[in-house]
Amino acid sequence: MSFLVIKAVHVIFMVTWFAGLFYLPRLFVYHAMCNDIPGRERFKVMERKLFWGIMTPGAIITIVLGLWMIGMNPAAYAAGWMHLKLLLVVLLIAYHIWCGVLLMYFRDDRNRHGHQWYRWFNEIPVFMLVGIVLAVVTRAVMPAVIGMAILLAIFVVFAGMGMMKGRR
Ligand code: HEM
Repeated sequence: MSFLVIKAVHVIFMVTWFAGLFYLPRLFVYHAMCNDIPGRERFKVMERKLFWGIMTPGAIITIVLGLWMIGMNPAAYAAGWMHLKLLLVVLLIAYHIWCGVLLMYFRDDRNRHGHQWYRWFNEIPVFMLVGIVLAVVTRAVMPAVIGMAILLAIFVVFAGMGMMKGRR
């Protein structure tokens, strides 16, 4: 298969993976707010299908195709931007597994967090997305670091505003 076709399929499955990484924690927000049993059972089915049917295959295919591209020309990727990208991918995989653990807690009706906690949890993959895309597209470390720092500053401002609103 040609390199460009592999890259296109890599990006397509990356989008599939991220659809789940953004939507599953959103389902957790509403699941944590749900008090009726039929509603909770419905969330469990939606969460399980999203995690195992969409997110996990998306993650596996994205990673396999990414490693395949590196295997085609390893010397081209011995660069800082790729090391940063791979570090962020490792964090993304850790987040994915964390989602799987939370899914099991919900499945067993043992969730311990409120909806507000899930709203913040939901924002974590945005950092990885911004950092990875800036690193690969610019092929440099600095734009990715600056992008993530700006995002962090925005979150700190929003968190501060939320706390002030809570005090009033
Ligand atoms: C182990 C996981 C991954 C590996 C090994 C990997 C590796 C690669 C490689 C080698 C390329 C080709 C770069 C080039 O054009 O020379 C690429 C492209 C790309 N990757 Fe990944 N990748 C991984 C995961 C991800 C993830 C999680 C994302 C999204 C957050 C992502 C987003 C992209 C994008 C957008 C491109 C296209 C960049 C461009 O053409 O400018 N990759 N990846």
